[in-house]
Amino acid sequence: MTQQCNSTEIASLQVNGDRLNDTLKTIGAIGALPNGGVRRLAFSLEDIQARTILQTWMEAAGMTTTIDTAGNLIGRYPGRFPHTPALATGSHLDTVPNAGIYDGTYGVLAGLEVVRTLHENNIHLDHPLELIVFADEERTMIGSKAMAGQAPLDPDYYAHPHYAPLPPSLAAIGGDWERLTASQRQPGSLAAFVELHVEQGPVLEAAGGPIGLVTGIVGQRRYSITVAGQASHAGTTPMDMRQDALVAAAQVILAVNKIGTADNGDQVATVGSMKLSPNVVNTIPGQVEMTLDIRDLSNDRLDQMVATLEQDMAAIAQATQTRIHLQPKLRNEPVPVNSHIHSTIAQVCEDLGLPSTALPSRASHDAQIMASLTDMGMIFVPSDDGISHAETEYTSPEHCTQGANVLLHTLLRLDHHYGCTEEVVAAVSAI
Ligand code: GLV
Ligand code: MN
Ligand code: MN
Repeated sequence: MTQQCNSTEIASLQVNGDRLNDTLKTIGAIGALPNGGVRRLAFSLEDIQARTILQTWMEAAGMTTTIDTAGNLIGRYPGRFPHTPALATGSHLDTVPNAGIYDGTYGVLAGLEVVRTLHENNIHLDHPLELIVFADEERTMIGSKAMAGQAPLDPDYYAHPHYAPLPPSLAAIGGDWERLTASQRQPGSLAAFVELHVEQGPVLEAAGGPIGLVTGIVGQRRYSITVAGQASHAGTTPMDMRQDALVAAAQVILAVNKIGTADNGDQVATVGSMKLSPNVVNTIPGQVEMTLDIRDLSNDRLDQMVATLEQDMAAIAQATQTRIHLQPKLRNEPVPVNSHIHSTIAQVCEDLGLPSTALPSRASHDAQIMASLTDMGMIFVPSDDGISHAETEYTSPEHCTQGANVLLHTLLRLDHHYGCTEEVVAAVSAI
């Protein structure tokens, strides 16, 4: 590490909490909704505006910036050994349609605040430090999936009735669908990845501890469910001669709820979106398309949920004279975090006098995908009332600042742990 500070000054280094919380307000205003929430869908004008500001801020903080073919915005703060694998942090700026200002954005801005703190103290780590703004975390996870070489290359895989096709969307943010695989990184090309995020659940607040030591991230599978019946006249078709897609869909929703509540397990299952056609008062619904999202820490449990649902759907299709089809849309494997990074975060919390609580992440994150490329860790800060993906999402400025300080000191320690020996430098330069 090169620096003007001595090691005692480094140990007491603190981010500028006011500056961090100001940037949260600035980015939170982009796409602000009248209800106090924010809508900054991936690839929208608001997303592009937020990314453009971030790029300017990254460059002012001494980073070089690039956008890879998957649309990831990557800031790179130089290290003492430029050819050694970078340490990386980051998250996302895109939001769900009615979001709060913290989900994703907090991790990006805390990463920026870490770099600003290093830059103004003239500190360079041994490793380069990358701050990654992943493209479209909320729907396709195309940014991290392409980086990890896990993105399906068929554009139809990403098709959705409510969203524009992916190739032109990627172009709008500086990506390139035709050259998507150029964004792939090789395992070992990053020294480690650490993501800081709001918990989005109630565990930390109940535990009273400001910092969450994430132990692992749940597996998530998403599907589209298509129910095909027969649209027909709502007055002339007797009740026992209908193929009503919506009646079948309603039964599928109950079956989804059943697999989510079975055995008192921690698994969850949600139908979150539905499109009905023709959606007309005096016509029997002919087709329903809906989404399914299931999550659990165990892949076996997820397999079992899908098998049960498929059986139930076959019975519903027969009883309602409809056809029901389940199509996979996204699959994230459950992953544990790296044990060394986990214990480093725990030690940092102890040294900073911040109580911490170990817990799994029940939301998906880009970190989950990055775990296939490098050692991965995650830090959580509390969400008031456990609420997220809603306009009332809130994390106090104090907790935001504490989390950013934990990120700063975790990265400083990992810089030592992942040593930059001449052999490592030579081996990496030769790739
Ligand atoms: C991302 O926010 C997810 O967990 O769905
Ligand atoms: Mn998020
Ligand atoms: Mn989210």
